[in-house]
Amino acid sequence: MEYAHRSIMVSEILEALDVKPDGVYADGTAGGGGHSFAIGSLLGPSGTLICNDRDSDALAACRERLKDLNCNLRLIQGTFSDLAENAGVTFDGVLLDLGVSSYQLDCAERGFSYMQDAPLDMRMNQGDKLTAKNVVNEWPEAELTRIFFEYGEERYSRRVASAIVRERQRRPIETTLELVQIIRSALPPQALKEKQHPAKRVFQAIRIAVNDELEQVRIALDHLVEAMNDGGRIAVLTFHSLEDRIVKSAFARYEHPCTCPPDFPICVCGKKSLGKVLVKGIAPTAEEIAENPRARSTRLRVFERRIES
Ligand SMILES: C[S@@+](CC[C@H](N)C(=O)[O-])C[C@H]1O[C@@H](n2cnc3c(N)ncnc32)[C@H](O)[C@@H]1O
Repeated sequence: MEYAHRSIMVSEILEALDVKPDGVYADGTAGGGGHSFAIGSLLGPSGTLICNDRDSDALAACRERLKDLNCNLRLIQGTFSDLAENAGVTFDGVLLDLGVSSYQLDCAERGFSYMQDAPLDMRMNQGDKLTAKNVVNEWPEAELTRIFFEYGEERYSRRVASAIVRERQRRPIETTLELVQIIRSALPPQALKEKQHPAKRVFQAIRIAVNDELEQVRIALDHLVEAMNDGGRIAVLTFHSLEDRIVKSAFARYEHPCTCPPDFPICVCGKKSLGKVLVKGIAPTAEEIAENPRARSTRLRVFERRIES
């Protein structure tokens, strides 16, 4: 299948990263290379672009897309939580465009979609062990309830988890559409009439669990902020409130890390600010959302590292 994905907020990201032609930039979620191409096009022969993704299909598409760029190019297959260590350099800019690509969603056999029938998979890295089938068939009912509620913000988390457990006692749940049917059967009639697909929240929850998405973001930001050069910027695109909250609070903590009680006359904890929040959760323009509805819930946050000399 052809790798199709429309990159979001490209001009806002280029402005936020303020790309220097000889700088070192990393795209932690390179996908098919849309944002990478835009960044790489601003780099000269002494600039470096590191493209990272956990998905080998994405990296193959990215390599093809970027083959004519004029800068130094490195491709790394790995998680962005390991990017700082795997790259082994310091950065002038890093981009994380969180979540799944349209390619992953649209490629039925990857098992992300509640619209097309496929084996339950949802791994971004097809070499990983844990699949959606493991989660659905093996995780305890209480754990399923928790992830549906926390990661999917599903009001009927208990009912859905209990329907899954009842069904899997009869036979294993194998495919995406079998799961959709079970979710539908567990929801009250009014929930089935909502605009959103009835399986959307539960599928999001399982995907987040399979790929350990939230922990990935927490670890990555803490490592990347330490690997930025003075003035280097981290730009993050988030797609739901859970990940946006993590990015917002991490950036706030990097800017104001002091843990002294507010009534202390001077700081005694010794924690120094790592820099400044530059962009606080802006949304795409109305035109972009009209052209690309998948951009609807996107927010951009940017942090600039400042190193005291
Ligand atoms: C929204 S897409 C990126 C699209 C890309 N920015 C573009 O313009 O073409 C997100 C990509 O991030 C990758 N990804 C998600 N979580 C990751 C992680 N923890 N480590 C590495 N890659 C990850 C996915 O495999 C997917 O290819």
